[in-house]
Amino acid sequence: MRYTLPLGSRPFGPLCIMPQMEVVELEPRPTNRDNRLYGASELSGLGRTGHQSQRRPQHNQDPDHDAESTVAVFPDELDRILEKLVIVVPCKDEPVDVIRGVIAGIPSRCAVILVSNCSHQHGENGWEAQERMLAGFCAWGREGCFVHQQYPGAAMAFKEAGVPEILDTASGRIRNGKGEGMYLGIAMAKSYFPHHQYIGFIDADNRIPGSVVEYCKAYAGGFALAQRSAAKSGTEREDVMVRISWASKPKYSASTGRIEFVQQGRSSRIINSFLNRLFAKAGQQDELITTGNAGEHAMTMEMALKMRMANGYAIEPFQYIEPLLRNKIPSANLPNASQTTRIVQIKTANPHLHRETGDEHIIKMWAAGLGALYHHLLGVDSVSGLGTTTLATLRKDMHRFALQNGAIQGQEELPRPNIYPSLDNADLDSFRDVLGEPCSGHVYGGLGFYELVDQAWASSGTNSPASQSTLEHDSWGEDDQRSSASSEEEPEVLSDSSKQGE
Ligand code: GDD
Ligand code: MG
Repeated sequence: MRYTLPLGSRPFGPLCIMPQMEVVELEPRPTNRDNRLYGASELSGLGRTGHQSQRRPQHNQDPDHDAESTVAVFPDELDRILEKLVIVVPCKDEPVDVIRGVIAGIPSRCAVILVSNCSHQHGENGWEAQERMLAGFCAWGREGCFVHQQYPGAAMAFKEAGVPEILDTASGRIRNGKGEGMYLGIAMAKSYFPHHQYIGFIDADNRIPGSVVEYCKAYAGGFALAQRSAAKSGTEREDVMVRISWASKPKYSASTGRIEFVQQGRSSRIINSFLNRLFAKAGQQDELITTGNAGEHAMTMEMALKMRMANGYAIEPFQYIEPLLRNKIPSANLPNASQTTRIVQIKTANPHLHRETGDEHIIKMWAAGLGALYHHLLGVDSVSGLGTTTLATLRKDMHRFALQNGAIQGQEELPRPNIYPSLDNADLDSFRDVLGEPCSGHVYGGLGFYELVDQAWASSGTNSPASQSTLEHDSWGEDDQRSSASSEEEPEVLSDSSKQGE
């Protein structure tokens, strides 16, 4: 991957945000300059030197993308990271063919966890078909895991791990929501892929498998560049998160009868504008934040375990605030609280084409995203450098926007997100004990492992709790009903039906 060099990072207390880099070449050929940097990658760093910034592009050269203003990461460096990357794909009722396209785009070096919250078991697009599709892919040699969010064993595993907050009080199952599915994905990744150092997320409704390849490589390249930068500055340890923004989001316009390639989605536009006000340089408004809502993002495993996570669609905006709040939590409750968090933002070359959603969905996303910021901004004043008056104005403006655009009514407050605890504080050994040994290829109604060589389990000498887990799994069938009265999403019934997600 070749990227434009980012201008200087901006520090906000423990949070360091890099302005967006752009992918300018997907498969670059090393130039003399790249060879020099690449060969000494530990020393090369990321910054634009004075010499480089003054250098004029040669005749006929694109001034933005000449070799001196770009930085490249080559295949063996990408592969080294992809080998240690677990990709979590949260899905619901997307047609299996669409989910297959996403899995097809994930480089085979990466492990895959499909976390489904599909509303029905049987039929061509039920969760059994999703699971079979993943098993088929993994038969070609990829490590993978399927878990259904409503699988009772997963709820029990969280209970045993000391995380009852993630459970719906009425049903006793894991709550509905994308954030909840991702949280389950992180716990599964740490439990069953303990040697992987990175975790990334890719939505299941992506229609362009080629863009999925690019997201995964962009994640790996972002981590590689952050490592170079850390090595150069002598930083020992850093939490790194790579967030993706897209070249465009193609949308069909009924009024023009054309596909329009809009720059930002309707939700991102709003969340980014408020985050940009929060992180603005004194007296200036700029576009530092382009990834406030980035559904596609990846982070070091250490960071994923350390972060508290918000529910549903609040999860991504909250990630910008959470590192700022972390310093306020007594460090006894949070290991490595003082470590820097670096956010790397990357704009891909591919567009992002996914399921069209209606106004109602976007309004819910505004409410969730703004709610996550609104309720937690109060804690960040001293870190961001913003005065309390400015924060108060920002919060008032968020509330006003939500009210004027139908995200809340009358005297309503913006929704306060559920915040789930850092998984560092959870007992993930017990989580894993409940779910049991990953018998490759075996599926217990809602949980399946494929091509997974479980050295961790074998070497620990622990007795396999698989038989105990099977008993648990047997109690969950297609007639089972899910109550989710207290969950944020609409209740869904776990029965076979012809219901399709799109
Ligand atoms: N496991 C699981 N559980 N997955 C879920 C759930 C759930 O309860 N709810 C949604 N998902 C999955 C969907 O199946 C889809 O693959 C993915 O999460 C994203 O959901 P969408 O409903 O397609 O969200 P969106 O396209 O409106 O928004 C996406 O992009 C935004 C940025 O533009 C999401 O990724 C947002 O989180 C993101 O902010
Ligand atoms: Mg979508």
